[in-house]
Amino acid sequence: MKAFEKEYWQTNYSDLKTIDGIGNVKDHSRYVSAYFNLEGFEAESIIDLGFGMGRLLKEFKRVLKPRRVAGIEPSEYIFKKLKLPGAHLRQMDLLSWAQDPKEKWIYDLAILNSVLQYISNKDLKIILPILARRSRYLYLTVPTEIEYQRQKSELSFKDDWAIIRSQKEYLKLLRPHFTFISSRMLESKHYYSSRNTPFQDLLFRF
Ligand SMILES: C[S@@+](CC[C@H](N)C(=O)[O-])C[C@H]1O[C@@H](n2cnc3c(N)ncnc32)[C@H](O)[C@@H]1O
Repeated sequence: MKAFEKEYWQTNYSDLKTIDGIGNVKDHSRYVSAYFNLEGFEAESIIDLGFGMGRLLKEFKRVLKPRRVAGIEPSEYIFKKLKLPGAHLRQMDLLSWAQDPKEKWIYDLAILNSVLQYISNKDLKIILPILARRSRYLYLTVPTEIEYQRQKSELSFKDDWAIIRSQKEYLKLLRPHFTFISSRMLESKHYYSSRNTPFQDLLFRF
């Protein structure tokens, strides 16, 4: 079995409207757009890391209207399906992207929706500090062990590809590099602290 090729998509993506980032793609873009408007922040460049079918990337491009749009996706099967004129799309995984010295761009917003559960701790320890240098803000979703337990008991669904981690484990990996500033939105500690953040509601920083 090749990782994240046809079998993954047929197994995990059999009912598209129920999938986070697909069925509710407009809710994601409205949320981020409203939050950025409220705080007066403009994302002029975005990258989707592990874009899959590319629905979030397309929708964020449409709503945020950034000048630069980029994405990476390791699966050849799904990579070939996305057509997004003007976007810089590369078929590669997150570790290769992090270790690519040719990638010089610093993005206002990186999207990382439901991808971290497929990456080992060893690789995440290399990737996350680099990600915090290459992106100012990170739109992050990742299921923790509690969501996986619920999926199993309520939906009889089990993701055979995923590494199951607790919230505590994710926080330990993420917190040295990012501050949580809102639901799903993280801010790079490499660029910002409470002294220089453009996001003004300083109570909500964890
Ligand atoms: C649950 S899907 C999410 C796809 C997309 N982000 C979305 O929200 O619709 C997981 C994605 O992670 C990708 N992926 C798996 N391992 C990866 C890695 N090491 N680096 C980057 N992407 C990876 C898969 O190919 C797949 O596209």
